[in-house]
Amino acid sequence: MQSSDPSCPTAPLGLLAELTHRCPLQCPYCSNPLALEPPGEELPTSVWQDVLTQAADLGVLQLHLSGGEPTVRRDLEVIVAHAAKAGLYSNLITSGVALDRRRLVALVAAGLDHVQISMQDVGSVNADRIAQMKGAHAKKLEAAALVRELGLPLTLNAPIHRQNIGSVPAFIALAAELGAQRLEIAHVQYYGWALANRAALMPTRAQVMETARAVEEARARLRGVLTIDFVVPDYYAVSPKPCMGGWGRGIINVTPSGKVLPCHAAETIPGLKFENVQRRSLRDIWLTSDAFQAFRWTHWMRDPCRTCELRTRDWGGCRCQAFAFAGAAAEADPACAKSALHAAFTATAEREAGEPAPAFVFRSPRAARTRLA
Ligand code: FES
Repeated sequence: MQSSDPSCPTAPLGLLAELTHRCPLQCPYCSNPLALEPPGEELPTSVWQDVLTQAADLGVLQLHLSGGEPTVRRDLEVIVAHAAKAGLYSNLITSGVALDRRRLVALVAAGLDHVQISMQDVGSVNADRIAQMKGAHAKKLEAAALVRELGLPLTLNAPIHRQNIGSVPAFIALAAELGAQRLEIAHVQYYGWALANRAALMPTRAQVMETARAVEEARARLRGVLTIDFVVPDYYAVSPKPCMGGWGRGIINVTPSGKVLPCHAAETIPGLKFENVQRRSLRDIWLTSDAFQAFRWTHWMRDPCRTCELRTRDWGGCRCQAFAFAGAAAEADPACAKSALHAAFTATAEREAGEPAPAFVFRSPRAARTRLA
């Protein structure tokens, strides 16, 4: 898909396939929506295969198999094999707790290209507490070692927050010891369950700066050995991130039931209607659906974004965050220093980080019902 019209969408680079919202873990920063989709609504294998064929035809290159926990799908190997046949580079985003040798060998045989394993902490007591699963951390370590033994590239994902932030240097050492190619030191982003748990997760600015220093030092020391990505919390930023590379510009997110979203949190924005792959083609949805057009390019922007010289670089930041904090998705992302709400945004983080952490609300269908009641 090529066009000389800059507002015309180009081909998406990646497809995030949320195969299921089922997960044996209950991480309090899970990016899934509070309203988890039930297993009975999950797309069958044949529909996922068709979605992957359509995605490849549309120009998608990378497939991110996610959840929930994607390995709870018994047809995962079939889906991976279809992705390989379609020419998609497949990345399995997993907790690793169900990834034993038999399963991983089968996935490698099916054509899996890459594995990303999330870690809650480097010590099992706190890691298992955060995941709410006894023995989870030990299983993750085994899975990570297996991934490397079977010759697949490995990324470790470390979501960072006030209850594990002291472990950043140890996360770096662990990633190097496991032979990971990439480590994501990713401060939690406050959507979904993380927004519900913001006060329990928010670190202080000084703690964030300390992690930045640790990452810089390690990057220099481990150059050529380990690539370290560093994601700062938006609440301490001065310029917004180009969320999803810009709305409707690079990523398509398909939920377990087949809804097609411009980002994983898009359903928090009221008034948007999301199409389903069972009723409309992926191409049609990407090119013309109202939800993808709503914040694509710059037509929707108000001041200060409308006249900002960075508007085609940061794309106004994050629409979901703008709605969550400013109450309107077309407002400037409060992470931007030009937003009228930026000072209040930062003050919220500083206040919450300075108070004792409340108890976690763990991700579970029961907790979801309570939060949504
Ligand atoms: Fe939805 Fe940023 S998470 S636009």
